[in-house]
Amino acid sequence: MSETLIEAKNLPRHVAIIMDGNGRWAEQRALARTEGHRRGSDAVRRVVRAARRLGVEALTLFAFSEQNWARPRIEVQLLMSLLREFLVSERGEILDNGIRLRAIGDLARLPPEVRMVLDPLANDSAENGDMTLTLALSYGGREEIADAARDLARAVAAGQLDPEAITPELLQSRIASVAVGEPDLLIRTGGELRISNFLLWGAAYSELHFTKKLWPDFEAEDLYQAIGAYQSRERRFGLTGAQVKVLRSAQNDNESSMAPRAVQGLVQGVR
Ligand code: IPE
Ligand code: IPE
Ligand code: MG
Repeated sequence: MSETLIEAKNLPRHVAIIMDGNGRWAEQRALARTEGHRRGSDAVRRVVRAARRLGVEALTLFAFSEQNWARPRIEVQLLMSLLREFLVSERGEILDNGIRLRAIGDLARLPPEVRMVLDPLANDSAENGDMTLTLALSYGGREEIADAARDLARAVAAGQLDPEAITPELLQSRIASVAVGEPDLLIRTGGELRISNFLLWGAAYSELHFTKKLWPDFEAEDLYQAIGAYQSRERRFGLTGAQVKVLRSAQNDNESSMAPRAVQGLVQGVR
C-alpha cells in the first residue's frame, strides 16, 4: 500500500507505537544489541516523517520504559546517548515542520545531558500545531496512574476533595499522558503480543496492531499497512454495530448535535 492509497477521511488522529525488537534485530546479525538501537533510531526518523506527511495529528513513541532502567548499565547509557543524538540532529527538522515535541514519563530520572536538549526543544516547539510528537521516556502506565491517584489522595487529605466526587473523568484529568489524547491506533513491532505497561489508561479503546517486523526494519510502508488495517475496523465503544451505523450517518448528515451529550463523545471516536 502506498501513501496515496491511504483513505484520508478515516485517518487515525493519534498513532502510538511500542518500538520493540532492536535487540533481536542485532542478535540475528551477531551484532551488539546497541547496534540494533542505533538502527532503531533511524527507523524513528523515517516514521516521524511518514506520519507527518500523512497528516497524523499525534504520534506517541514508547522509547524507554520505567522498567528498562533495570537493563545493563552500558545499554541504558547508549540508549540515553542515542536519545540525545536524536534530539540534537532532529531539532531543525522538528521546528521547520511544525512539529510539537513533548515527553511523558518520569523525566526527573533522565540524565542532565538529555534534559539539556529535551527541555529547550519542548519549549521552542510548544506553539507548533501540525503534529505532536510525544516521546514516552522513563514511562510506565501503572506508575502514571499511581501518580494521579496520589494527587487526588492529597486533595482529599487536604479537605479539598470529597472522595465521592472521584470519577473516571476526574482521575483521567490527572493522568499526564491523557493530555496528548487517547491513541486511535496502537502498533507494537517485534512480534510480542503485549502492552508492556504502555498507555494503560489511554489505550482502553485503542485499536491494536501487532507486527512481527523488528523495529529497525519498520518502514513507512509498514505504517501505511497498519493504518490500512485500522481503517477496516469498526470501533464500537461498547455500543452495538447498529447503533454505531446510526451515529455515523447522523454525523455524516451533520446532525450529531442532536445526539445526546454522552453519545457525542463516542461519536468523536467512532467518526
Ligand atoms: C526496544 O527493543 C527498545 C527498548 C526497549 C529500549 P528491545 O531492546 O526491547 O529489543 P528486543 O525486544 O530485546 O529484541
Ligand atoms: C517495551 O519493550 C518498552 C519499549 C519499547 C520502550 P520491552 O522490550 O521493554 O518489553 P518486554 O520486556 O518485552 O515486555
Ligand atoms: Mg523488547
